[in-house]
Amino acid sequence: MAHPQHIRAEILEISPAGAYGRMVLRAPGIAARVRPGHFAALAVGGPDSAMLLRRAFFIHGSDPAEETVTLVLAESGRGTRELLRGRAGDSVDLVAPLGTAFPQPAGAMTALFVGGGYGSAPLLPLAGQTVEQGGSVGFILGAAGADRLYGVDAARRLTPDVLVTTDDGSAGIKGQVTLPLAEAIKAIGAEVVYACGPMAMLAAVTGIAAAEGARVFCAVEEAMACGVGVCMSCVLPVVGEDGVSRFVRSCVEGPCFDGTRVRWSDVGTIPADLHGAAAMGVR
Ligand SMILES: Cc1cc2nc3c(=O)[nH]c(=O)nc-3n(C[C@H](O)[C@H](O)[C@H](O)COP(=O)(O)OP(=O)(O)OC[C@H]3O[C@@H](n4cnc5c(N)ncnc54)[C@H](O)[C@@H]3O)c2cc1C
Ligand code: FES
Repeated sequence: MAHPQHIRAEILEISPAGAYGRMVLRAPGIAARVRPGHFAALAVGGPDSAMLLRRAFFIHGSDPAEETVTLVLAESGRGTRELLRGRAGDSVDLVAPLGTAFPQPAGAMTALFVGGGYGSAPLLPLAGQTVEQGGSVGFILGAAGADRLYGVDAARRLTPDVLVTTDDGSAGIKGQVTLPLAEAIKAIGAEVVYACGPMAMLAAVTGIAAAEGARVFCAVEEAMACGVGVCMSCVLPVVGEDGVSRFVRSCVEGPCFDGTRVRWSDVGTIPADLHGAAAMGVR
């Protein structure tokens, strides 16, 4: 748990970034606590809003000196639409940082970062840290189409090893991020793969990375209600170090997990061998 704070944060800027909106918030007391993979939860509307649940967003950047955090928002439904209508000078109700971040880079390692759409948002600061520590990095950034890619220029500022994929072929290789993954791991000698994107992508990336002998860490985006570990709406079946599978809260123990421990094909189900499944009525 990242010791989150609850504040009203001033919107300093909302600017378009392809299909997304980049929101910079003044967040005193929060920016210095953020690690790559943490997320923020924004309330939508005022105290009388019918939208009771906060909306979760990965923290893309944090600047302790400026006391700012940056989020990347895709318009999805009513909540994100309303948040993206905000203007500089408005304020939002913010809880952050939340969740368990990615493991920090251990010395000068070689890492491959695989992002789907805005999934690159939490990966770019981690890649920056890896380079600062003398490591080397590569990226595969994919999306449905060119306008839904995020962070390609920022990735190219860190490394020439950036591959782009789009489902419709409007930029880079036509296909999904998994298409060049095995070759890319071999080409840069990646010891570790960090991934963020849709669940199906994370499952596939985990399988390929593990087969290539790389460690793999994934930031999941599981629908969540409270965001602080109370409601159990965000649980995933995860195999513990003792070999026992349990439901684990993606808002507190996650959203960053060792991908090989998540039972991807059982997400959304109650596996019969899960610890406590019998108490849930599963035989
Ligand atoms: C850990 C985490 C990190 C995320 N990071 C980002 C990010 O960096 N950028 C970004 O644009 N989006 C991100 N999302 C998804 C974002 O939270 C949803 O798009 C948003 O909640 C949708 O709200 P809405 O009112 O616009 O859509 P609606 O579909 O109207 O939402 C209705 C309800 O469903 C929930 N919901 C809908 N889609 C999702 C979803 N994909 N994940 C979780 N809850 C959902 C909402 O919280 C809300 O309670 C993240 C989600 C999680 C869990
Ligand atoms: S969202 Fe409530 S426990 Fe995770």
